[in-house]
Amino acid sequence: MEILIRPTPGHVARLVARLVLERVRAKPELVLGCATGRTMEAVYDELVAGHRAGVADLGRLRTFNLDEYVGLAPGDPHSYHHYMRERLFDRVGLPPERSRLPNGAATDLAAEARAYEAAIAAAGGIDLQLLGLGETGHIGFNEPLSALMSRTREKALTPTTRAQNAAMFGGDPDAVPRRALTMGVGTILEAREVLLVVTGAGKAEVLARATEGPITARISATALQLHPNCKVVVDEAAAGALEGTAYYRFAYEHEPEWAPYRSDPAL
Ligand code: GLP
Repeated sequence: MEILIRPTPGHVARLVARLVLERVRAKPELVLGCATGRTMEAVYDELVAGHRAGVADLGRLRTFNLDEYVGLAPGDPHSYHHYMRERLFDRVGLPPERSRLPNGAATDLAAEARAYEAAIAAAGGIDLQLLGLGETGHIGFNEPLSALMSRTREKALTPTTRAQNAAMFGGDPDAVPRRALTMGVGTILEAREVLLVVTGAGKAEVLARATEGPITARISATALQLHPNCKVVVDEAAAGALEGTAYYRFAYEHEPEWAPYRSDPAL
């Protein structure tokens, strides 16, 4: 795991987008794992800007999303299907058949979960997985005590998560669905590369526990410590409770890999 601390959420979004665009240039039909949430909105804006500027063509991607609310049809304005079309897919002309999210309105959710896993495998696995961090320390909707080897399945959401996401449902936590279909922690760990994106002081404590604390099913993001190619991109506010910042900063300032990024003030 490598932690990159950047000054502001804008720097974080631009650096994450730069990394994604580079991967797409190297492999135009990249299989991208997409995340939702407010943190990702700025990342998708930067990706769309890069696409429009011709840095990379995002219209040839294959995408799989982490999760979807149970009971929401793909056309529902609160669904993650809708979020993704608005934030990314329609803006880069990605043909609908190239993107897939779990169908939260499926009548047989267990069968849908199995089909989702099979579709990821048939696509050759996920090359690059984007992740946000929930206030409970979840990745996807893998709430506390999710098995660290779990696969795509239905999961009950915590009151904390429903409150966190209430703003997207008119501010009412009770309007947030109680369950979601989510990739498992084991599914996420099979991605060849992972980028965890975290901004804001409100995530500082859980970020420190996720990255520097012991691996525990209580915080599914701690499983990322086992991943051989995981970068965590955070702003100064989110880095506020980390203990190892002197080393993380030193590595970014001195590792040759980061030289081209260091010299760009936008990153
Ligand atoms: C939801 C998603 C998570 C995401 C989280 C972060 O809970 N299911 O995958 O990481 O939102 O949300 P935000 O960026 O709004 O804090």
